Amino acid sequence: MNTIISMISEHVAGAFDKAGYDMAYGKVTLSNRPDLCEYQCNGAMAAAKQYKKAPLVIAADVVAYLKEDAVFSEADAAAPGFLNLRISDAFLTDYLDKMRHSDKFGLSVKEGSDKVIIDYGGPNVAKPLHVGHLRSAIIGESLKRILRYAGDEVIGDIHLGDWGLQMGLIMAELRRRKPQLPYFDEGFAGEYPSDPPFTLSELEEIYPTASARSKEDDDFKNEAMNDTYMLQKGDRGRTALWKHIMSVSIPDLKRNYEKLGVSFDLWKGEADAGPYIGDVVDTVKGKGLAYESEGALVVDVKEETDSKEIPPCMILKSDGAALYTTTDLATLLQRRRDYDPDRVLYVADKRQEMHFTQVFRCAKKAGIINDATGLDFLGFGTMNGRDGKPFKTREGGVMRLEVLLNEINEEMYNKIKDNHEVSEDEARATAKIVALAAVKYGDLSNQASKDYIFDTDKFTSFEGNTGPYILYTIVRIKSILNKYTEAGGSMEDLKFNMVLNETEKALMLELVKFSQVMISAYEELAPHKICAFIYDTANAFNRFYHENRILGEEDEVKKEGFLALLKITMEVLETGIDILGFSAPEKM
Ligand code: ARG
Repeated sequence: MNTIISMISEHVAGAFDKAGYDMAYGKVTLSNRPDLCEYQCNGAMAAAKQYKKAPLVIAADVVAYLKEDAVFSEADAAAPGFLNLRISDAFLTDYLDKMRHSDKFGLSVKEGSDKVIIDYGGPNVAKPLHVGHLRSAIIGESLKRILRYAGDEVIGDIHLGDWGLQMGLIMAELRRRKPQLPYFDEGFAGEYPSDPPFTLSELEEIYPTASARSKEDDDFKNEAMNDTYMLQKGDRGRTALWKHIMSVSIPDLKRNYEKLGVSFDLWKGEADAGPYIGDVVDTVKGKGLAYESEGALVVDVKEETDSKEIPPCMILKSDGAALYTTTDLATLLQRRRDYDPDRVLYVADKRQEMHFTQVFRCAKKAGIINDATGLDFLGFGTMNGRDGKPFKTREGGVMRLEVLLNEINEEMYNKIKDNHEVSEDEARATAKIVALAAVKYGDLSNQASKDYIFDTDKFTSFEGNTGPYILYTIVRIKSILNKYTEAGGSMEDLKFNMVLNETEKALMLELVKFSQVMISAYEELAPHKICAFIYDTANAFNRFYHENRILGEEDEVKKEGFLALLKITMEVLETGIDILGFSAPEKM
């Protein structure tokens, strides 16, 4: 199904044509003067030069034909040459009717489907999840859903940070504490124990201790670096220990992501790319791209048109160790061999932009990835506290994701308890759903690349541009529809009203934007556009709700039309929040 705006454009283009002008001038946009009109076309102004006529004259010529067209209830030429348009109730309800009977409300983003890998989440194993990882998870999950809804075949990969220095640090620290463990005995040839030599909470304590020690003790740091190097070389004892670290951490990570409503199709990590590093090195060397610089192996990736300096991409350190760039290149090679994707999309902190520029260029230059494969990086800004500085705990420490979510849950729970009588269990369950919406909507409603302020009071409010407000609106609609069906009313084949009142039409005008919004959210990787759309729709609904009696409407035909509108409003809003990655409770 075409977007409504392109359908309207076709009619205006037809009128330009009939009036003797080029159809290309008939492009319609949403009105930027909603007090004057619903849609507008500025084509007459653009055409003036070509036809050497006053824009207002051209506009008037076109209007003559628009007035005969049943799509429009009003078409005016306004100085200096605007076409101000309102659409007819019949055209609008007809479009909405087609929308509700079509799969995905008639959305059609493009022909065919791409195979896309989205790399998001990116937690570092054995390090606590902190709020920085929250954004990658929330934005990535939503992009995965946007792309899938648009028809792409999407594979979500968590890309664990699972063989960096933190692994060596943990090993070195463990060697200090338990030197007798067989993993540290180079001569050990037997089978290693199947039980890990630490619990989750021990592991959570070991890493920060080791990290702090490495900052004071150079020998310790060197030991940790050696452990990391040996692990990456495939040393038996360290690999066995690494497996224990993984087996203890991963279930905890899974639990955390599940709470966030975030899921991954692949739980691969940097370590999985290890076996591809040799190939990457051979490829860049074989193509004559790599050279030695201060002992390290590097590839130049700068281009003539660069406006800022892009340093060479480092492939191997002077000691032969792989780097972050190396594992990302190796991962691309692995992804190409395993999936041959049309596109790979990374969601990470925008401060990693240089890293991805280097990786993408090197991968293309060396043919590690096909020329046709799109490589995209969506860099997000920092989540700040109310003081405008990176989000911290009250004590000033790094905020752990779990702690933050618990705080929001508690806040929501208290609000829900205050609002009305509910059982403890129900209030807890509802609080969880609403808290997730508060956090996710709070994040997604901002343009991803911008920094934003995480404001608990604002995000958890039931009023304003918040997740809870959206859910509250959905719950309100659900409760009206429930009342209606409980009283024996049927939701089947409800007909829209043919003549619309003002708030009814305003709500419909929002709903019919659905396809257009989804297309731009897809093309621009912009979940915030969906947030803006559902917020506008929720506002339009609430205005409609306050202006009309719905179940109390005495005219049965009119009442049916209202209920039909409620139903599609609920469906559109629920689809919208599902694509953002959260859901609504039954009651609130
Ligand atoms: N683990 C990294 C971090 O915490 C993020 C990984 C992003 N993805 C990637 N393929 N490099 O910063």
